[in-house]
Amino acid sequence: MVVKINENYLKLKSSYLFVEVARREAEFVEANPDADIIKMGIGDVTKPLVPAVVDAFKSAVDEMADAETFMGYGPEQGYGFLAEAIIENDYKKYGIELDTSEVFISDGAKCDTGNIQEIFGLDNKIAVTDPVYTVYVDTNVMAGRTGEMGDDGMYEGLTYLKCNADNDFVPELPSEPVDIIYLCYPNNPTGTTLTKDQLKVFVDYAKENKVIILFDAAYEAFIHEDNVPHSIYEIEGAREVAIEFKSFSKTAGFTGTRCAYTVVPKELMAYDGEGNVVEVNPLWNRRQTTKFNGVSYPVQKAAEATYSEDGKAQIKEVLDYYMENAKVIRESLTDMGLEVYGGISSPYIWVKTPNDMDSWDFFDILLNEANVIGTPGSGFGPSGEGYLRLTAFNTLENTKEAMERISKLEF
Ligand code: MLT
Repeated sequence: MVVKINENYLKLKSSYLFVEVARREAEFVEANPDADIIKMGIGDVTKPLVPAVVDAFKSAVDEMADAETFMGYGPEQGYGFLAEAIIENDYKKYGIELDTSEVFISDGAKCDTGNIQEIFGLDNKIAVTDPVYTVYVDTNVMAGRTGEMGDDGMYEGLTYLKCNADNDFVPELPSEPVDIIYLCYPNNPTGTTLTKDQLKVFVDYAKENKVIILFDAAYEAFIHEDNVPHSIYEIEGAREVAIEFKSFSKTAGFTGTRCAYTVVPKELMAYDGEGNVVEVNPLWNRRQTTKFNGVSYPVQKAAEATYSEDGKAQIKEVLDYYMENAKVIRESLTDMGLEVYGGISSPYIWVKTPNDMDSWDFFDILLNEANVIGTPGSGFGPSGEGYLRLTAFNTLENTKEAMERISKLEF
């Protein structure tokens, strides 16, 4: 007898994009130990947790140290106090009513957007935007919903909705029937947004065609445009067709602390093999209660504190700081004659490579000659070729220094 692996894993590119970026960085550092590298690659925050969050975190740890207030297993779906704060602060102000049983608190939008496909049948046809946050694609490959990757960089059986400068980064509706569409807005990696009307086109399509939209709104806190929705549920009818993912990671510096949430409305339906209607919310509940034991109590108290008056004000300052970096990047690169997108309602700036250079070549030039790390656009999908992503999460000082170094390069 031999142990058989899940062969779908063999269809994947050998490593996760950010692992490959880190590998090239490590190789460069080994060869150039004195290089002063500026990281603008993975979207990881640099500012610490704000004081209001730290205070709540610490006092919850103190509660855990006292037999009177100690908390053991919490609800797998998260504590009611956090779900209520989420509904009150992230939804009510946009006129959206939710029930706490529709909010599932978790340890990350990456996990949730990766895990959600488990509750849907393997024969569903999947559409993703191209370029795309690679987790949506890779998890469907792992599950066996695709064939092999072709020479064009696309997995057989997956529908790619192209987004580049030619269509203003607005995906067209799928030209073939699909069952599930992943959308991420503000977009990772391009940093671009969809207006309410543009998103409505997808919601209407989903309603008409019994499609489910998996809407990743992890970057919602960065929205600075009036006509951009903060939640897909701002669009009429979206509760019947969409699951929404949000995260405290980029909003409140929780990349290392881990807290996020997923909204699965009660109205959302799918079908069993006989075509009978099945509610999706209980399925996700069943999945989470079986495979997940909830986020730790101190982390949920810390997340709750992001909604306190002090917490909100302190977080706004941090977000403004990152958006100032985004502005510096946008303006500096534009002054250098480069084409840039995003960075207005997003911490990501999507740069067209000079002279139609290959994404990884541009990445290598920035690394070797400016000691600046970006993320090659082609790593996010074939339509990302010819672009590179920079993040606004470094310090202002480093961001300015990176721009100064890039301005000295000759392309
Ligand atoms: C990114 O750089 O795209 C993000 O850090 C990915 C993530 O949040 O998992």
